[in-house]
Amino acid sequence: MKTEPGRSLKELNTFGVDVNADKLITITTAEELKQALSLPEIKTNRWMVLGGGSNILFTRDFNGTVILNKIKGIEKIKEDDTHIWIKAGSGEVWHELVLWCVNKNYGGIENLSLIPGSTGAGPIQNIGAYGVEIKDVIESVEAIMVEDGSLRVLTNSECLFGYRDSIFKHELKGKCIIVSVVFKLSKNPEVNTSYGAIKQELEKAGIIHPGIKDVSDAVIRIRRSKLPDPSALGNAGSFFKNPEVEKELYEKLKRDNETIPGFIQPSGKIKVPAGWLIEQCGLKGKRVGNTGTHKDQALVIVNYGNASGKEILDFADYVAAQVNSRFGITLEKEVNIV
Ligand code: EPU
Repeated sequence: MKTEPGRSLKELNTFGVDVNADKLITITTAEELKQALSLPEIKTNRWMVLGGGSNILFTRDFNGTVILNKIKGIEKIKEDDTHIWIKAGSGEVWHELVLWCVNKNYGGIENLSLIPGSTGAGPIQNIGAYGVEIKDVIESVEAIMVEDGSLRVLTNSECLFGYRDSIFKHELKGKCIIVSVVFKLSKNPEVNTSYGAIKQELEKAGIIHPGIKDVSDAVIRIRRSKLPDPSALGNAGSFFKNPEVEKELYEKLKRDNETIPGFIQPSGKIKVPAGWLIEQCGLKGKRVGNTGTHKDQALVIVNYGNASGKEILDFADYVAAQVNSRFGITLEKEVNIV
């Protein structure tokens, strides 16, 4: 366990916002996490856990303790003829875990290649991309309860996964810290190329019978072509969730906006791409000072250099207000604001 007082978090958040924490404690095992949680300051002061810092916007210095999760380890826990169960430490870099599985031909998470962040953050917002969500392959999630340091194992159904949502954003918010995730992966993987962009990318590469490595490579190429690399241009991926609107509102909007995309959900609501709504407001590639929407993906807000978190947040609120006044749709932030 390493403790650093007055530490800058600039390198620890993918927006690259320069804020300080009163104290940074880096933990590398579940035991160290328990020790950190038993410190008196955790009972009395503000604290938070930081993983890959890829879904967070700091708007001011953090007056408290940041616990940086570096719990590592990938192990096979069981297998049968068709499946293998892999347990990964929550501080493992997500994409490194994906590559580890792809190289061993364990299928299920290849569509989630190159998503920034840590493995433990995955279940919290049920990360998803290109037709797959992490919930599709999660067997269970292990978490330490903050109150008494006990270990709780949640089955997939207990996690109450939804679109960018889980129990960890609601009932268990601030009450537990994920230490490991168990995945059930396929030993004879069938690829999921249902998402149009993947199909096109594979066709372009002349691949007729893709394996999971081909799908992973295709996803990496698509993401690199559309989404800015956080190490080159600060960002946290999609800033807002794609809103789900009532059918009546969607049909009304469709009358005035023939091209509005919409995807019917099991609930009967229609999911509308927020990137489209923002683009229609003339805000794709819009820059205000040090921040703006990305030129190729209006849903991604970027830091052109030394933007403060407050500047980025104000811009995001401006974008949401424009969408609301034009379409009557409220955009919900996907990124956590601290
Ligand atoms: N679109 C536009 N203009 C834009 C961006 C998008 O018109 O500037 C429209 C297009 O019609 C496009 C559609 O939006 O066909 C969907 O765009 P895209 O495939 O880029 O996906 P998205 O809905 O914007 C979601 C996830 C991404 C994930 C991709 C691919 C959310 C909030 N975002 O984005 O996840 O990578 O699908 O599956 O659901 C993230 O959560 O941080 C993230 C990057």
